Amino acid sequence: MSTAEVATTRTDQSTWWRDAVVYQLYIRSFADGNGDGVGDIAGIRARLGHLRDLGVDAVWINPWYPSPMADAGYDVADYRAVEPAFGTAEEAAALVEEAHALGLRVILDIVPNHTSDQHAWFQEALASLPGSAERARYHFRPGRGADGAQPPNDWRSVFGGPAWTRVGDSEWYLHLFDSAQPDLNWADERVHAEFESILRFWFDRGVDGFRIDVAHGMVKSEGLPDLGVDDEAMLAPVDRADHPHWDRDGVHAIYCAWRRVADSYPEPRVFVAEAWVDSPERLARYLRPDELHTAFNFDFLRTSWEPATLRAVIDESLATVAEVGAPTTWVLSNHDVVRHVSRLGRPLTPDKYSLSELPPAETLDRELGTRRARAAALLMFALPGGAYVYQGDELGLWEVEDLPDDVLQDPTWKRSGHTDRGRDGCRVPLPWSGTAAPFGFSPDGASGAPWLPQPADFASVTVETQDGDPGSMLTLYRAALRIRREHPALGDGEFAWLPGPSDVLTFSRGAGFTCVVNLSDAPVPLPADAQLLLASADLTDTGELPPDAAAWLSAA
Ligand code: GLC
Repeated sequence: MSTAEVATTRTDQSTWWRDAVVYQLYIRSFADGNGDGVGDIAGIRARLGHLRDLGVDAVWINPWYPSPMADAGYDVADYRAVEPAFGTAEEAAALVEEAHALGLRVILDIVPNHTSDQHAWFQEALASLPGSAERARYHFRPGRGADGAQPPNDWRSVFGGPAWTRVGDSEWYLHLFDSAQPDLNWADERVHAEFESILRFWFDRGVDGFRIDVAHGMVKSEGLPDLGVDDEAMLAPVDRADHPHWDRDGVHAIYCAWRRVADSYPEPRVFVAEAWVDSPERLARYLRPDELHTAFNFDFLRTSWEPATLRAVIDESLATVAEVGAPTTWVLSNHDVVRHVSRLGRPLTPDKYSLSELPPAETLDRELGTRRARAAALLMFALPGGAYVYQGDELGLWEVEDLPDDVLQDPTWKRSGHTDRGRDGCRVPLPWSGTAAPFGFSPDGASGAPWLPQPADFASVTVETQDGDPGSMLTLYRAALRIRREHPALGDGEFAWLPGPSDVLTFSRGAGFTCVVNLSDAPVPLPADAQLLLASADLTDTGELPPDAAAWLSAA
């Protein structure tokens, strides 16, 4: 059976999202079709075969809408069109059709917390008077102090600096992210109506779902009260019961309405929330039966390579979503965090995922990180629920930590006063083939260099180099995803820990499948009565699983 046939036959189509493997396409860096050095829809269409061969079920495409790119497309100027640098509406339609023909679902990224400052609504707001209906779609306020020269409250931008910017007539507007990303006022009914209409616009064009950006941010506490805490405390994931702008209970009514829109379509239309919240319990609230289908499980991403915490996170993740009947998801990397090869290869740092917080580059053992990344992939794909692959995970890409200052584009770099280098290091264009940049990312004769420079040692991890190499990360991912599709125990379903030493994670998926992850510092024997399906590292001469490795076994 071909991969495409498997893709459309494995699970009940109405619940495909419960255990889908979703590939995150960071469009600027996936593949450049027109040779300008920036990835685009033409590039994706030309490379869909890679995704089919990899064996994923769906793609999530980062924002592809017209944008001044103050935050790499998360500053949307028009939610119903395609950024010219990425392609046209016709190309977008063709991509959806071609992906569907290969059995791949398409998930877009919706950004409801803020628009671009170039969005028509914000431009109208700027052109209108304080107190006008146009301004009421955002959060405009007079400043504090005698001449209004102080921001209206003490909130801070996630990217650094105050969350307020003053406009000419002396009012200030709120932006929890960059000043080019004004926050929408979700207390205004027009905002609700607009976003429900945007959902329909893309659903009508065959799009299968949305990843919801900053899903925990839209509702602000009435009166916008001060936080009364220092910057660092504010930036931490929600750690207080009544945070004035993160994870407020009011967001749930929005998602109930969105779910009604999704459910009005005969074929499933699904949501995945990017919600950075304080606990699995808080996350599960987004996943109640009349709300969102799934949410990223960032607790798993944040956990360090340590058996007790991994075990605890897995248990808690599974238990809390089960209470609301939702599946969990697993994710190791995305476009906002240091690539996991580079996190796992550093001294243990629980809860740290940005370059500014992790131990310095000198502490990185990339070989160790790669070894652990291989084991982590087998762990993740063996767990019940859905899984996310960030483009390049399947190649074992690492964080590019030595990008020159003058190429950095993440607004974090500027807004932090050049102290936090930001997220560009995980966004470097993919290496496809060849021995020198652009490594097949752009076509031959391209007019532009890749928008971020690729390091010379990407030559060792191109798709071309790894294809057919039995020891490569790509071969491991392909094998794991093939087995995951074919083995009835994998995906959604039963899960139970099996007895064993505390620093070895051993679990079964129903009677027929066992996964062993060795987090100890010595080789461990594998269950005697089982057949080895796949291992992330060669077994020892005596058939034991070495440290920092995982194995999949089929019970006899
Ligand atoms: C989300 C996105 C991130 C973006 C931010 C603001 O966290 O993943 O890339 O900068 O929202 O939209």
